[in-house]
Amino acid sequence: MATTPRRRYLVTGGAGFIGSHLCEALLSSGGSATVVDDLSTGRESNLDAARSAHGDCLTFVQATVTDALAGLPAGGFDGIFHLAAAVGVRLVVEDPARAAETNIFETSAVLSYAARSRTPTLLASSSEVYGKGIRAPFREEDDLVFGPPTVSRWSYGLSKAIDEQLALAHAQRDALPVVVARFFNTVGPRQRGRYGMVLPRFVTAALAGEPLEIHGNGRQVRCFCDVRDVAAALPRLLGDAACHGRVFNVGGDRPVTIEDLAGAVLRVTGSRSPLNRIPHSQVFGESFEDLAIRVPDISRIRAAIGFDPSITLDRTIADIAAECARRPEAIA
Ligand SMILES: NC(=O)c1ccc[n+]([C@@H]2O[C@H](COP(=O)([O-])OP(=O)(O)OC[C@H]3O[C@@H](n4cnc5c(N)ncnc54)[C@H](O)[C@@H]3O)[C@@H](O)[C@H]2O)c1
Repeated sequence: MATTPRRRYLVTGGAGFIGSHLCEALLSSGGSATVVDDLSTGRESNLDAARSAHGDCLTFVQATVTDALAGLPAGGFDGIFHLAAAVGVRLVVEDPARAAETNIFETSAVLSYAARSRTPTLLASSSEVYGKGIRAPFREEDDLVFGPPTVSRWSYGLSKAIDEQLALAHAQRDALPVVVARFFNTVGPRQRGRYGMVLPRFVTAALAGEPLEIHGNGRQVRCFCDVRDVAAALPRLLGDAACHGRVFNVGGDRPVTIEDLAGAVLRVTGSRSPLNRIPHSQVFGESFEDLAIRVPDISRIRAAIGFDPSITLDRTIADIAAECARRPEAIA
């Protein structure tokens, strides 16, 4: 009996938080993955779980995207997931040039590579493209409204918006099948706190009995979505030709305030840590602007692939806490 050939995927940023969970999803559905990652914010140990289950189907290349692509044959993959990027508010505010350059030049290189063989490609974008977000929930066709380029905080969102334009331009000019996935706050095991991500910071502090640092007044509204729900959705988006050439919000649909998130962390971990509110200006400088509400409309992705995130925030927090207790360095 003939066997179906294994599907081969390229995952840039595959040793990162979302990328490593995506690799597990791809491998457990019978595919193989070549991961390209320069380990600037990712870690090779993030791939341990994928390796121990399906080691022979995973290849790891430690390099920047541009360097690695120079050595890869065109048409060598059935699909590309481009997740490599400079990520995290702290990193972006500290080095906006790096954020813009990494996000624009590496994406341009991936799209040119993919276009040569018309390899279906998913681009990881961000809710940050909504910028100041005039109305909530955010819909894919909304106008994008940014602050001035003199405020470094917008460098990330602007660069991701350019990535999206580039991807859709390649779709139009080169008939490249592309999907743009705008991630909203994705959370779960392996996310690191040091670049400003809120949940690993809260869980680490709660377990250590230290104050949970809330940046701003704590009334900012966000929708969190577990990384395992997100990772499971990405191959389905890329694998469905009806999704090509389109933009999708990918996120949770249960708004919570940062204050409520802190409360949930204390409840789930049984911690009695105090909450400590710190003005944004003290953390990220005077010009930092935070968004009051960042909530996605996910009706498009629901209609397209039946996206229905099922992992509760409490379970995500419990899993992060278990990981932190087992391997504290994993989320530092
Ligand atoms: N986590 C979220 O909530 C979120 C929200 C919106 C968008 N995103 C997007 O999702 C993608 C993955 O983010 P993540 O949260 O997993 O962050 P991450 O930092 O864990 O992953 C990014 C990975 O890319 C790698 N990388 C960075 N620059 C590279 C380069 N030039 N060449 C090769 N590798 C490089 C890093 O080492 C890291 O492993 C990113 O594109 C990010 O912008 C994430």
